[in-house]
Amino acid sequence: MSRPQKILAIETSCDDTSAAVVDTKYNILSNIISSQGIHEKFGGVVPELASREHIKGILPVVDAALNRAVCSLEHIDAIAVAVNPGLIGSLLVGVSFAKGLAASLDKPLIAVNHILGHVFVNFIEYSDIEFPFISLIVSGGHTELVKFYSIDEFDVLGRTVDDAAGEAFDKIGKLLGFKYPGGPHIDAYAKKGDKNKIDFPRPMLHQNNYDFSFSGLKTAASLYLKEHKIKKDSDEIYDFCSSFQNAIVDVLFQKTIKTIKDSSLKNLLLAGGVAANSQLRNRFERYSKKDKIKLYIPSIKLCTDNAVMIGAAAIQKLKKKKFTSMKINPSPTKGIRSL
Ligand code: KG4
Ligand code: ZN
Repeated sequence: MSRPQKILAIETSCDDTSAAVVDTKYNILSNIISSQGIHEKFGGVVPELASREHIKGILPVVDAALNRAVCSLEHIDAIAVAVNPGLIGSLLVGVSFAKGLAASLDKPLIAVNHILGHVFVNFIEYSDIEFPFISLIVSGGHTELVKFYSIDEFDVLGRTVDDAAGEAFDKIGKLLGFKYPGGPHIDAYAKKGDKNKIDFPRPMLHQNNYDFSFSGLKTAASLYLKEHKIKKDSDEIYDFCSSFQNAIVDVLFQKTIKTIKDSSLKNLLLAGGVAANSQLRNRFERYSKKDKIKLYIPSIKLCTDNAVMIGAAAIQKLKKKKFTSMKINPSPTKGIRSL
């Protein structure tokens, strides 16, 4: 039997510098993530600082990934890198580094769409996923419902018409005085509150489509904060966080179930940083226990940005020998794309 091939994967699309080694049998040999704490105090990612931090971090992070995998560069069969979407200055660091490495080692280069990576990381942890499936992709920049027919054939059925779900969490988190990103803080505070205390709007919930909108909810929540003078240390913060999170989860859940029912599919993959949200996970898990759907959710560490997900999507491409020209340039354009 032939030995599994190894991929060195690199992810620098936003504020995490990450490198991983995975093999074509879907084993994680290493996964190093260096998160840039520098943005916390600004309440959001500062693009110029992010690219500078990637420049400082990329070499040590790649070195650490190779060391942890007990693997030298000569044993790597391909270099994979996230090329879109993301912050252009951040992507440039990873893509330039990966191109240089691939050229100097004479190894193939594999370009990966970051959003596709979020979806395909599920294949690392589950071996029984079958096409076709629906994926709910929820991250800091994206909220999309996508029907997959195969690795490179899919239709976007719906997406947000304004803010992404993660963006709504982060913007309200900033107003509350939480460090960036706000999502995990709101999740933690929500656990101690009453989710039905404040009746926040559920935008587009009853429209007959698969699209989302979160900017109206964000405005309603920020007006409520101002009116009731709620801050991190107010008594009401727990009910506020719980009710705000409940409104987001409700819309994500109900629109996804509509998609599942309308398409008569049963396989659902969750993907992206917001899939780490405890209420979202619980709600879908409860539904799947009634045997209504077959649910796949990445473990929490693999929901948020990491290079394993870039490696996971690259495995499929390496098997099909879908390599990338050295002329590839990164692009910030949003959305899921096959490459
Ligand atoms: O996928 P990701 O790491 O980066 C992007 O591609 O955007 O997602 C980051 C987003 C942030 O908006 C963050 O607040 C959100 O995921 N997030 C959460 C949780 N953990 C991360 N949102 C709600 N609850 C969480 N537990
Ligand atoms: Zn992401």
